[in-house]
Amino acid sequence: MRTEADVVVVGAGPAGLMAARTLAAAGRSVVVLEARERVGGRTWNGVTIDETGVEHFIELGGQWISPDQTRLAALVEELGLETFDRYRDGKSIYVSPDGTRHEYEGDRMPVSETTATEMQRLIDELDALAAEVGAEAPWAAERAAELDTIALRSWLEQRSDDAEAIDNVSIYVASGMLTKPSHAFSTLQAVLMAASAGSFSNLVDEDFILDKRVIGGMQRVSESMARELGDAVVLGSPVREIEWATPDESTADPRNGIKADVRNGVPNNGAPGRVVVRSDKLTVTAKSVVLAVPPNLYSRVQFVPPMPREQQVAHQHISMGLVIKVHAVYETPFWREQGLSGTGFGGGRLVQEIYDNTNFGENIAGGTPGEEDPHGTLVGFISDVHAEQMWALDADERKARILDAIALYLGDEAKRPIAFALSDLGAEEWTRGAYATSYDLGGLHRWGHLQNRPTGPIHYACSDIASEGYQHVDGAVRMGERAAQAIIAHSKQARDS
Ligand code: FDA
Repeated sequence: MRTEADVVVVGAGPAGLMAARTLAAAGRSVVVLEARERVGGRTWNGVTIDETGVEHFIELGGQWISPDQTRLAALVEELGLETFDRYRDGKSIYVSPDGTRHEYEGDRMPVSETTATEMQRLIDELDALAAEVGAEAPWAAERAAELDTIALRSWLEQRSDDAEAIDNVSIYVASGMLTKPSHAFSTLQAVLMAASAGSFSNLVDEDFILDKRVIGGMQRVSESMARELGDAVVLGSPVREIEWATPDESTADPRNGIKADVRNGVPNNGAPGRVVVRSDKLTVTAKSVVLAVPPNLYSRVQFVPPMPREQQVAHQHISMGLVIKVHAVYETPFWREQGLSGTGFGGGRLVQEIYDNTNFGENIAGGTPGEEDPHGTLVGFISDVHAEQMWALDADERKARILDAIALYLGDEAKRPIAFALSDLGAEEWTRGAYATSYDLGGLHRWGHLQNRPTGPIHYACSDIASEGYQHVDGAVRMGERAAQAIIAHSKQARDS
């Protein structure tokens, strides 16, 4: 089947749907082509079934909103959705490198005075760097090359010989955010992550970063936008090819008539041209396209003519992290009766962080609006090399090892969940990892400046190329809106000239 529209959006995650919503609101015709049979991308509502056949709601992907994520918070309200706070009353648990379990109150981990001082010193220095570099254009910072050519681990080790302090500071950005080992990404990349959340101190503060959830799950944000767009969203239709031409070439045969300067990376950036987007179910001819997929998937699409050389090279240096999100459901949130919040940290351990993730209101299968689920849900995270080790085990051994690791924080009762599930975004063809993508060591200062620059009529939108809200749903929404606004501005310019 074939159709025409002003704009085609590739990908019905939060970024693509926000782009389509913004374009539709401005009177542009739009078609959204989505590879999966559902919208939401890396936000995904699911269920896990207990031994008695009862379903328990889980969020397999992105779920939390922090106070700095103001564009997402506003959108949630615009869509008529509600949020609830993460449970956080009571003491937290810290498991030290020797495996000793400590209960503590407040936000200071119960480490020795020396380690606490070292941690604070490193955090202060990272805060200062985040303020210096900012999130908007880290590649343009004065010290970009210097910070981008040293791995975060090496940078920390140059400043401290306290391994516990280094492990604990690493959690917040390595296993906790970029989900790559701290030797695999640069200090500049870590600083971008911190700056995008306002500061490194904000990343450290779990009460800030993991603040609220959407009642009914984060995927509802995408589902609500898709509902507004109706038939414009086509599911189960992966985009295979994008044929593109800039305005002055739109009459030429783009397969052989494309101008040399376009091939060599000087496209007419952002202006409407001509695109023919071929997907499994539908071919759409339009003036612009928004590529709203994670950058590691750009090369799944054939571009005709090929992308400019610099883009082709840059895209090979962007990869997904890897994390397993663990969901364990219990008869009750038993930790609360022991005065515990369900929050636990253990730098360098198999499960490095756990939180109370008990559902609320309509989140519960058959649940009561306005009421909390009587069952307790815990969420935990297993990152990078630990995740690889877990996927190498058979399912029973994997489950046993993970529950043992959670029991280090909450005791043997944690080994007896009534339901258990792991998020496996690494196995998903249209994601291939979690949470998001980042550059190889040294890549951000070399190629970061290209990531938001349109290529002819091709615009980019994804959380993974955001500044504010980088790697988060908020960043996706911001990037979708920004790409749409750029297309609207360019088309007005083209009309007026
Ligand atoms: P996203 O990947 O969501 O959407 C892209 C869409 O494009 C997908 O639907 C995909 O199927 C589609 N697609 C890909 N290739 C295609 C093709 N060729 N043709 C057509 N369609 C194609 N964030 C947050 O704010 N709070 C949180 O708590 C978390 N936690 C978290 C946990 C886990 C396990 C994950 C995996 C992720 C998070 N995140 C998060 C991150 C958050 O989910 C992520 O930033 C956004 O979903 C990104 O939205 P995008 O629209 O940019 O990409």
